[in-house]
Amino acid sequence: MPGGCSRGPAAGDGRLRLARLALVLLGWVSSTSLPSSASSSTSSASLPAPAASGQPALPGRCPAPCECSEAARTVKCVNRNLTEVPADLPPYVRNLFLTGNQLAVLPAGAFARRPPLADLAALNLSGNRLKEVDAGAFEHLPGLRQLDLSHNPLADLSPFAFSGSNASVATPSPLAELILNRLELPAAERQNLSLEGMVAAALRAGHALRGLRRLELASNQLLYLPHDVLAHLPGLRHLDLRNNSLVGLTHVSFRNLTHLESLHLEDNALKVLRNGTLAELQSLPHVRVFLDDNPWVCDCHMVDMVAWLKETEVVQGKGRLTCAFPEKMRHRVLLELNSSDLDCDPILPPSLQTSYVFLGIVLALIGAIFLLVLYLNRKGIKKWMHNIRDACRDHMEGYHYRYEINADPRLTNLSSNSDV
Ligand SMILES: *[C@@H]1O[C@H](CO)[C@@H](O)[C@H](O)[C@H]1NC(C)=O
Ligand SMILES: *[C@@H]1O[C@H](CO)[C@@H](O)[C@H](O)[C@H]1NC(C)=O
Ligand SMILES: *[C@@H]1O[C@H](CO)[C@@H](O)[C@H](O)[C@H]1NC(C)=O
Ligand SMILES: *[C@@H]1O[C@H](CO)[C@@H](O)[C@H](O)[C@H]1NC(C)=O
Ligand SMILES: *[C@@H]1O[C@H](CO)[C@@H](O)[C@H](O)[C@H]1NC(C)=O
Ligand SMILES: *[C@@H]1O[C@H](CO)[C@@H](O)[C@H](O)[C@H]1NC(C)=O
Ligand SMILES: *[C@@H]1O[C@H](CO)[C@@H](O)[C@H](O)[C@H]1NC(C)=O
Ligand SMILES: *[C@@H]1O[C@H](CO)[C@@H](O)[C@H](O)[C@H]1NC(C)=O
Repeated sequence: MPGGCSRGPAAGDGRLRLARLALVLLGWVSSTSLPSSASSSTSSASLPAPAASGQPALPGRCPAPCECSEAARTVKCVNRNLTEVPADLPPYVRNLFLTGNQLAVLPAGAFARRPPLADLAALNLSGNRLKEVDAGAFEHLPGLRQLDLSHNPLADLSPFAFSGSNASVATPSPLAELILNRLELPAAERQNLSLEGMVAAALRAGHALRGLRRLELASNQLLYLPHDVLAHLPGLRHLDLRNNSLVGLTHVSFRNLTHLESLHLEDNALKVLRNGTLAELQSLPHVRVFLDDNPWVCDCHMVDMVAWLKETEVVQGKGRLTCAFPEKMRHRVLLELNSSDLDCDPILPPSLQTSYVFLGIVLALIGAIFLLVLYLNRKGIKKWMHNIRDACRDHMEGYHYRYEINADPRLTNLSSNSDV
């Protein structure tokens, strides 16, 4: 123990010793990691961090209608009525906000620049009245991780929008998050076009979105999920299908989404989940499923789902799920139902049932009155029947007689000869 220890027991001594120790350590670190500069000075070891930002400033052009921050690597061209993507985007841009403009069409290579915008990671195109996104619109953006196309009346989304413009060469997309909420198509176009099919085609094309981890498709009035739409997104962690009109999940498979962590199905039109879906959800190791605010139908088809709910840990807030139909079950909590509560007898709604009962009673009354009338008139009827029988007999005898005349060959010959 040299020097420092023999100085004395002063209070500040401990701090001094620590400082010296730190200096020695620093020296040791710098001598081991940077052997060439170790002899020059110990303080140089603390310099590398600021040195990194000392490189020459990038050409920081900023498009006229935009606000740029090089420090935050952010460019905002928000609510500017732009009709096309600015040509002179600064190359440092990492976050690009082009929201609230009037882009309408996004052509192939809309963001291709020379040199490419290699750092662009988050692109927000929400609220742009975008109708058309062409094949390869996001080409040459190798670092694009998040894309928000929400609040656009997307009527013409190319199947190759997220893959390459050359359909025959599948380019994997770097996208990790794709946000497609509220693609508000005008009602007229909605009738002609299947948004479900269009989006599914773009998600499928060329297996380009293998790396996608988050997909948001909320508030799109989706009626169904095309059956293989999820099969090409094996990396999915988060799937948001809130506030759509999904009636069932029978045809869609979750089996391959082994990384799925959250599945939002709130505010849909789900009536029941069938055995196949229940088994698939149960087989996913990390998933949490959100099922609130669906019009569950509590009849005999609900038995399997109720049994599953009682066992599973997969459904978040499962105690909140209630029946919407039939009437007598409304607001009953699914978890508290017994299989004896779940029957399929009341096929007709109660109002209709009572009207059918009423109709039955009326018909029975009419039948009874008819029988009564018959009974009271039994004598008259008997007489009438006799009359009819007699009349019939007379008629039949006359007929028989004429037949015999016709059948007699002599008589017929006679009549035919007389004709000639
Ligand atoms: C965009 O267009 C609207 C309507 O034409 C206008 O009221 C608004 O001032 C425009 N905004 C800009 C930034 O030019
Ligand atoms: C994109 O911009 C809209 C409008 O400003 C905003 O509501 C939305 O959260 C943004 N998206 C992302 C992913 O940040
Ligand atoms: C697409 O890629 C194929 C195969 O590389 C090539 O032969 C073809 O010319 C390309 N088409 C276009 C339009 O670039
Ligand atoms: C709907 O489709 C029909 C026939 O395919 C076409 O004539 C009509 O213009 C379309 N309407 C819209 C709004 O696209
Ligand atoms: C649900 O979606 C509809 C359009 O499909 C939209 O008008 C409504 O605001 C959405 N509700 C919520 C709570 O997001
Ligand atoms: C699931 O993945 C397996 C193997 O990765 C594949 O063979 C199968 O076709 C996939 N299933 C679906 C429904 O895509
Ligand atoms: C659903 O699965 C359960 C248990 O696996 C089984 O008892 C039941 O019969 C199945 N229901 C149908 C409709 O196949
Ligand atoms: C369901 O059945 C259990 C026992 O079988 C009973 O304790 C419970 O009260 C029943 N619940 C309802 C809502 O009928």
